[in-house]
Amino acid sequence: MSTWLPREIEAKRPALQQVLRPIAEAAGLPNETYTSQAFAAVERDEVLAKTWTCIGVGHWVAQPGDLRPVQLQGLPLLLLRDREGALRVFHNVCSHRGLKLVTAPCRAKGLIRCPYHSWSYGLDGALKATPFIGGPGTKSCEDFDKAKHGLKPVRSAVWCDAVFVDFSGEAPAFEDFIAPIAARWGDFDPARLRHGGADSSFTIEIGCNWKLAVENYCEAYHLPWIHPALNQYSRLEDHYNIALDGHMAGQGSTAYRPSLSGDGRQFPAHPGLPRKWDGAAEYLALFPNVLFGVHADHFYTVVLEPLGPARTREHFEIYYFDEAALGDAFADLRATNTRQWQTVFEEDRGVVEGMQAGRASPAFTGGVFSPAMDGPTHCFNQWMARALLG
Ligand code: FES
Ligand SMILES: [Fe+2]
Repeated sequence: MSTWLPREIEAKRPALQQVLRPIAEAAGLPNETYTSQAFAAVERDEVLAKTWTCIGVGHWVAQPGDLRPVQLQGLPLLLLRDREGALRVFHNVCSHRGLKLVTAPCRAKGLIRCPYHSWSYGLDGALKATPFIGGPGTKSCEDFDKAKHGLKPVRSAVWCDAVFVDFSGEAPAFEDFIAPIAARWGDFDPARLRHGGADSSFTIEIGCNWKLAVENYCEAYHLPWIHPALNQYSRLEDHYNIALDGHMAGQGSTAYRPSLSGDGRQFPAHPGLPRKWDGAAEYLALFPNVLFGVHADHFYTVVLEPLGPARTREHFEIYYFDEAALGDAFADLRATNTRQWQTVFEEDRGVVEGMQAGRASPAFTGGVFSPAMDGPTHCFNQWMARALLG
């Protein structure tokens, strides 16, 4: 294996090796991995582009012809649903002069037309029309083969509506990547998932590196102080840590019993679940950048979109396991459920932004982990350190 590493990573090799120590002796990732623009670019190319990174959810392009531009640390991508209902991901750039092709979510009636010189593409990415390419009134020219100039596809896969991409085309098989979480939550049938609709999405923009959002999600340690209301119905004592197969970590609760309505109504639960899921929940960060939560009656996905070293957009999407939960009879409960999660994620803002601010201090050199409480956070730091060191 090559030992060549980009300069930004090589300079941090001793600190990254310190992360790989056993938890009681380990430090966290060095400050620059959270604060430096140059490092963010290296991280994108060396880590995010070489594994299965989440860029959105299928619900964003619910209908055939729906187009949605997305980006990963500046890389323009296009998420779309084709006429057959399949999700596809392409580089969002016109093959002619490199215009960013789609700039806002929309529905293509026919072809995807570039606004610059009207070259047009099918939903399969094929280049279909090149008006005047051979001069006014001429749609073709000698030696130009349309088949060679379609949109460039990106290797992609979907699990529980979350859309993952592998830019390198060389990441291990998606089935292997997803197998541990799919097995752990095998009691739930992904085919039952129904997005809650307009009242079941929100986005939060936070002033921190995306990795701090992952780290904060992995741990329950902060619950009593940051989430006092959540701690009433899902106490710290009821939580346990999860560190799975090295590329996901999080926590579970054996007592998740919020009261969403004054009259005792509840969402229909996923049918046929073993008793252990009764009033239970699990929260897993699947590395690098997607957070999942599962409960007997709902599921959520949080896509972490890095916007720069110190800015992250969290896309929160809630799903139910039964069509009945989508109806008017549950509209008030859905709204309450969404609001409740929004409150929890807003409560975290102060601490994740505070950790970002703290990383400007040379007195902080990765900190320490509590072996009892910070195992999942250390698990994520180790995954990052390994990915960076290649
Ligand atoms: S750049 Fe798109 S048609 Fe020319
Ligand atoms: Fe939190």
